[in-house]
Amino acid sequence: MPSEAQRRAVAPELATVVQKLRDAKNVLVLSGAGVSAESNVPTFRGEGGWWRSLNPAELATYSAFQRDPRLVWEWYDYRRGLIANASPNPAHRALAGLEAPAREVFIITQNVDDLHERAGSRRVVHIHGSIWRLTCLADGKTYEDRRVPLPGLPPTCACGALLRPDVVWIGESLPAASCAQVDDYFHESWIDVALVIGTEATFSYIGDWALRAKRSGALLVEINPNPTVLTPYVDVKLQGKAGAILGEINKRL
Ligand code: OAD
Repeated sequence: MPSEAQRRAVAPELATVVQKLRDAKNVLVLSGAGVSAESNVPTFRGEGGWWRSLNPAELATYSAFQRDPRLVWEWYDYRRGLIANASPNPAHRALAGLEAPAREVFIITQNVDDLHERAGSRRVVHIHGSIWRLTCLADGKTYEDRRVPLPGLPPTCACGALLRPDVVWIGESLPAASCAQVDDYFHESWIDVALVIGTEATFSYIGDWALRAKRSGALLVEINPNPTVLTPYVDVKLQGKAGAILGEINKRL
């Protein structure tokens, strides 16, 4: 919960966002690891992100997987365990609560967990894939597998080939179907408010989508306790944790 002083400090900006959201028909959300942080799923960068003194940004690559598939799978298996035991937090729930008969909420998430869906959000595009799906390296077929822990690491397909998590690794292309959904959304929707929450916006496409929404008239809002590369370009910065800020917004809507 924010302190009274913090609450007062964000009040005018918060009021602007609440007013815009009240009238909004289309809300775009760009969510990142910070949104799941309050569900105890560690972020990639910053505090708590490292695992066994290894940098996640170096594990989430195809070359790391080629070098040591078991090690990379141990890390994903660990994260699958955390996610399976996690519950949606107030940020996920507040975003689901933003949906209303006259207000559509479209979430583009970089998170490979399913906490937005478990909170009740209905339109979620997983631009970096899903940790619950595995892809066969031989034929590219994808399977859902929610077993935690996986019975053997690295997992293999019935055909004998290695399976990889169906996630986008650093340097890989985004899934074409998810990009098409995002493109359709931009073509079909007049976005009133774009909320960029809990992401460093390291990847250029996140910044591009945020700025595209702003250029077409949306109020661009960032919710994050820290500054990011996007901060100089946003209309409103709400500095703090997503759960407390989104909870406050929902209370005032
Ligand atoms: P990062 O881990 O890079 O950044 C997390 C962001 O969340 C930071 O800006 C934090 O300040 C913010 N944050 C932390 N706690 C928060 C809270 N309670 N409320 C709001 N914000 C909070 O995560 P992303 O920018 O999402 O991609 O980048 C993650 C991507 O990097 C992953 O999808 C993965 C990785 O490379 C690929 O593998 C392609």
